[in-house]
Amino acid sequence: MGKVLWQPIQVGPIELKNRLISAPIATSTSTKDGLPTADTLDINEKIAKSGVALSIVEHHAVHKEGRTRLRQLLLDRDEVVSYQQRLTDLYSNNDCNVIVQVNHAGSLVQDEDMLVDDWAPIAPSALRHPCCALYVMPRPIKLEEMPDLVELYAQASLRAVKAGYRGVEIHACHGYLIGQFLSPLTNQRKDKYGGEIKNRARFLFEVYEAVRDTLSDEYVVAVRLGAADSLPNEEPKGLTIDESKWVAKELSAMGVDLLDISGNLCGYDGEGSAYFADYVAAIKGVVGNTPVVGTGGITEPATAEALLEKGVCDLVGLGRALRKNYKIVHVWEESHADFYKR
Ligand SMILES: Cc1cc2nc3c(=O)[nH]c(=O)nc-3n(C[C@H](O)[C@H](O)[C@H](O)COP(=O)(O)O)c2cc1C
Repeated sequence: MGKVLWQPIQVGPIELKNRLISAPIATSTSTKDGLPTADTLDINEKIAKSGVALSIVEHHAVHKEGRTRLRQLLLDRDEVVSYQQRLTDLYSNNDCNVIVQVNHAGSLVQDEDMLVDDWAPIAPSALRHPCCALYVMPRPIKLEEMPDLVELYAQASLRAVKAGYRGVEIHACHGYLIGQFLSPLTNQRKDKYGGEIKNRARFLFEVYEAVRDTLSDEYVVAVRLGAADSLPNEEPKGLTIDESKWVAKELSAMGVDLLDISGNLCGYDGEGSAYFADYVAAIKGVVGNTPVVGTGGITEPATAEALLEKGVCDLVGLGRALRKNYKIVHVWEESHADFYKR
């Protein structure tokens, strides 16, 4: 076994000291206005001190009607910037890189209290979201509304870097709005945003271009891509891995700094260790030097090291294992120090 886990790697404009990333985990700790609370800061301070090279902070909604839950952090207005600075300061004080996820939930509304006054969330098509437990019939987005929607991601990203983040990650998985466009199960549009994958991915590409143009190359622009609507061991349905390989290749050609791989309508959970490895490897196989993150069920250093050595991915994401034990990276480093010295 080699030492890839502790080797530095360049991700866009920043050098990461090791291959470990804190995967975004929504904490539901915001105020009702989407501002971080003492609890949000406490969790992020623990991550900042954990030894990961990069933290991808939980999804922030680009508009208050784009929240999945009421207690979700927002990057929807300039007022949030000074509050977010307190969060990013925790990272700079602890020498840990940090970017933040920008998201619009579309029709994946998970909080009943959001459904007031006949309000209807937006979606590519008037179809109930297959993963939404509530009765929510979305309003289909009009073609002329698309540019404003794209701009919401760009403006939220600008606020993020003003607050001190080193960049952003565009949330394009887990069945949220961009994932709803990617999947033929939720996108049955007849215009240039529906039909074949090049049309279903158009919204994602437009968001990527707008964010990149707004942030310039000084900042990281990452995409968390839903590789498919089914898990690797399931019968394929909806968005397929072959389609998302094409999307990933296009994003790589467009200059994306980091591709972070998870599921789309199938969500983020699976069984066993490294349960998305087949998808991650398939995508890594077509994107050349673009760094790829593999996440999902990685709890042991040997698993992480093996994925890196086999070239399945360039970085590994730790979600729940890190939240269970914020010292996990230090434990891995210490327990393997002797081995690596040999
Ligand atoms: C409670 C919870 C909240 C999550 N919130 C987010 C999120 O905000 N953004 C995101 O992309 N993934 C989110 N995820 C998915 C995780 O980033 C990660 O992909 C998943 O937990 C699998 O990795 P793990 O096995 O290391 O936990 C969440 C997962 C959990 C359990």
